[in-house]
Amino acid sequence: MKVLVVGSGGREHALVWKISQSPKVKKIYCAPGNGGIGKMAELVSVGPEEIEKLADFAAREKIDLTVVGPELPLTLGISDLFKKRGLKIFGPDREAARLEGSKAFAKDILKENHIPTASFATFSDATSSKKYLADQPSPYVVKADGLAAGKGVIICADRKEAEAAIDDILVRRLFGQAGEKVVIEEFLQGEEASFMALTDGEHILSLASSQDHKRVFDGDRGPNTGGMGAYSPAPVVTPEVHCRILDEILGPLLAGLKKKGVHYAGVIYVGLMVTDSGPKVLEFNARFGDPECQPIMMRLKSDLVSLLEATIEGKLHQVKADWHQDPAVCVVLCAQGYPGSYEKGKEIRGLEKLECWQRGSVFHAGTTGKQGHFLTSGGRVLGVTALGGNIQEAVREVYRAVGEIEWEGMHYRKDIAERALKRS
Ligand code: AMP
Ligand code: GLY
Repeated sequence: MKVLVVGSGGREHALVWKISQSPKVKKIYCAPGNGGIGKMAELVSVGPEEIEKLADFAAREKIDLTVVGPELPLTLGISDLFKKRGLKIFGPDREAARLEGSKAFAKDILKENHIPTASFATFSDATSSKKYLADQPSPYVVKADGLAAGKGVIICADRKEAEAAIDDILVRRLFGQAGEKVVIEEFLQGEEASFMALTDGEHILSLASSQDHKRVFDGDRGPNTGGMGAYSPAPVVTPEVHCRILDEILGPLLAGLKKKGVHYAGVIYVGLMVTDSGPKVLEFNARFGDPECQPIMMRLKSDLVSLLEATIEGKLHQVKADWHQDPAVCVVLCAQGYPGSYEKGKEIRGLEKLECWQRGSVFHAGTTGKQGHFLTSGGRVLGVTALGGNIQEAVREVYRAVGEIEWEGMHYRKDIAERALKRS
């Protein structure tokens, strides 16, 4: 088989790494990919938003399977386009991807199907949204409706902050079109977890649970980022919580989508708050989480390509996913200044010391270069990921590897997986 992976981050490197282990696969392309991905796939210089060009490439090269990493091409309708042209693709259609593309759409589906989530209201004008605040308790959660690269959620301690956030979104349009509507939510207390599952629209195959670390600094301080590290499994997702996610969230979600005539095939990501009264939905994504994908791919024993094909063909009930018992931990190394503006082009040193690393992999997220000489080219630069016999060992191993790598201004969190360590 020839496989094309769309995207350029650590998630796509992990997908390419896992797909390259499939006995079915002869050749992998990645568009546009990055320096590290270039070691195992042929890079194609087409951006993920250039969906017509990607379809032309897949048709010309007779690609057997295209796997979409990021959300943007999904919300632009890459899957609809590929299917129209008779090309096989993994990722939900445009209408289904609205679960991620519009928070208001996602919240309506949650409400219609009585799925546990924070209570909320949606507005498109500042005056009525501020009036609504008056009757709600603090703190307030103010969200831009559309895609905002993980930055469109503002947690506000008091009404003054919340009103400023509403003005930023609806009046000052800091998030552009993504801010045509604002969603105001109840603040939920608990521990966050990420839960992903494959679905073909009928059947659900759960993937291993995980936990992201969204804030930039240790102790969950500082602004939100795309994700500073992740581990799998997440002990907060106990067998009981797992069952409740399937019964109270994913089952009703699929039934609700079907009722609306929306067919969802692909991976569904549920961002959860595990509260005292059970798991509640914070958000949906229509793709693999990044960095959660990295530890999850490292723990997956089964052939990923067979699972993706079963998803596309409506045969998920015929396959199962086997997992390494060992936990995996991913620490994201970032450029100075991230998640704000950052410099590119810094030389990365020490990667050669990890080339024969047995217990882990260094997934590239924002690098250029080849033959062992890599420069930084993004905010999140590398995702160092290790397996360990237990969570302590995995944490020790991952930070040992991180200690081998350096560049000017590199920063990372030193407390990845702390919650899992505390529970162990
Ligand atoms: P989202 O992109 O909707 O997942 O929000 C980003 C982050 O904001 C989440 O990972 C949570 O840490 C936080 N957050 C979002 N919604 C809520 C909520 N209703 N209550 C508490 N925290 C929230
Ligand atoms: N790590 C969270 C996300 O991928 O949206």
